[in-house]
Amino acid sequence: MPRADVLVASNRGPVSFRLGDDGGLTLSRGGGGLVSGVSTAARDGLSVWVCAALSDADRLAAAAAPGGRLDLAGHDTGGAAVRMLPIDESTFRSAYNAVANSTIWYVNHTLFDTPRTPVFDARWARYWQAYVDYNRAFAAALAEEAADGAKVLVQDYHLMLVPRMVRELRPDLRIGHFTHTPWAEPSYFSLLPDDIAAAILTGMLGADSVGFLSPRWAEAFVRCCVRLLGADAGGGNVHLGNRSTSVRVHPLGVDAEELRERVSRPDVGLRRDALRQRIGDRRVIVRVDRTELSKNIVRGLAAYRELLRTHPEHRGNVMHVVFAYPSRHDLPDYRAYTAEVQRLAREIDDEFAGNGWSPLLLEVNDDYARSLAALQLAEVLVVNPLRDGMNLVAKEGPVLSENGVALVLSREAGAADEFGADALTVNPFDVSGTARAMHEALLMDPAERRRRSERLARAATALPPTAWFAAQLAALD
Ligand code: F6P
Repeated sequence: MPRADVLVASNRGPVSFRLGDDGGLTLSRGGGGLVSGVSTAARDGLSVWVCAALSDADRLAAAAAPGGRLDLAGHDTGGAAVRMLPIDESTFRSAYNAVANSTIWYVNHTLFDTPRTPVFDARWARYWQAYVDYNRAFAAALAEEAADGAKVLVQDYHLMLVPRMVRELRPDLRIGHFTHTPWAEPSYFSLLPDDIAAAILTGMLGADSVGFLSPRWAEAFVRCCVRLLGADAGGGNVHLGNRSTSVRVHPLGVDAEELRERVSRPDVGLRRDALRQRIGDRRVIVRVDRTELSKNIVRGLAAYRELLRTHPEHRGNVMHVVFAYPSRHDLPDYRAYTAEVQRLAREIDDEFAGNGWSPLLLEVNDDYARSLAALQLAEVLVVNPLRDGMNLVAKEGPVLSENGVALVLSREAGAADEFGADALTVNPFDVSGTARAMHEALLMDPAERRRRSERLARAATALPPTAWFAAQLAALD
């Protein structure tokens, strides 16, 4: 098999498998911001994409693949070969659930309930060992697949030890790492045990270049390196020992053409008609999220309740469409959070519904076409995460909106850096402030709303995935 000149590594890959009743495997596309960003960009020269098997069906497919590369004939992966790693289930679960999603994700999104969590004990140390092994499996596959002097782009918080591991195996390679999450300030990052914090930072500094979605996250990373490792920083680089790593910001936008092509398909049209019928001639406030703690859905609903309480004139005239599709349901916190979202939605309905009007439409199953249809119809879009690396829904909304959308946006989302005064920015903890912003958005003059929405759409598409990917590659030259 020819070795690759450009490689990407990420936990979730562009495809996943399902085991049918007949024992056969069926294939579908992977989801999420990272996957769609890299997939769109993959047409531009990516040769091998290394990812993990995430389920039993994936493990079966991966174990059966000759040389580890999947046979994807007939499926569009942008031309890249996919090497799916059949990491054993217990190692994978410990690395993904306990370390990546319950520790590092929580650190970078500042999600801990500190009187109770985190707890770093002997059990957690075993989980960490699994994270090290899982990172090592990626490093070994990359070292095996890469041609001399190849460029390797390692993605996200699951794989923070990989750059240093790859450098040790293959010093000839050019290595980049890109973080899709925010980054914590040193005071919060140092909740991690000192040796773990140091392993993560030095793991990433094994790269020639590390990238972030916003200057805020890049600066926090540099501060962590200086404060916790004693590194030197200057001129956009971090220096540690005899090595320098450049720290770059590569914002990720959306591909307008691809989005518009997608919404022109009949499945989206059907859902748009059904939603229109359900909403009638009411004003519509939309949100679309993974049911994810950092997305702050509960405070968003509380703000909508406060809007209806303090502005009775909106009752009967507005509908809140909330699509909160499932995510990480192996984690008890996430299951409990979904239940809390459903409970609060019921309470709002009990308090206000009447005369044939329901204030809220909540769906918790995943339907991408329906989400796109809702974004087309939105007059107000609420994106109020506690912290978010970027948030692509905030970018898709203005691009797709039919009549212009007023964006209520958390100042803690990376997207807020690029949108300036065209969004109505809120403090995500401030429920009353968010309710006021929703009210202001509903009152906004339609012409003004359209003008702002057009400017938002321009900003959202300024750096599409192809430019983002090219920037990561160029940072290695
Ligand atoms: O960094 C964020 C991210 O990798 C996104 O790209 C994606 O939406 C999300 O996390 C996916 O998480 P998971 O793969 O656990 O579903």
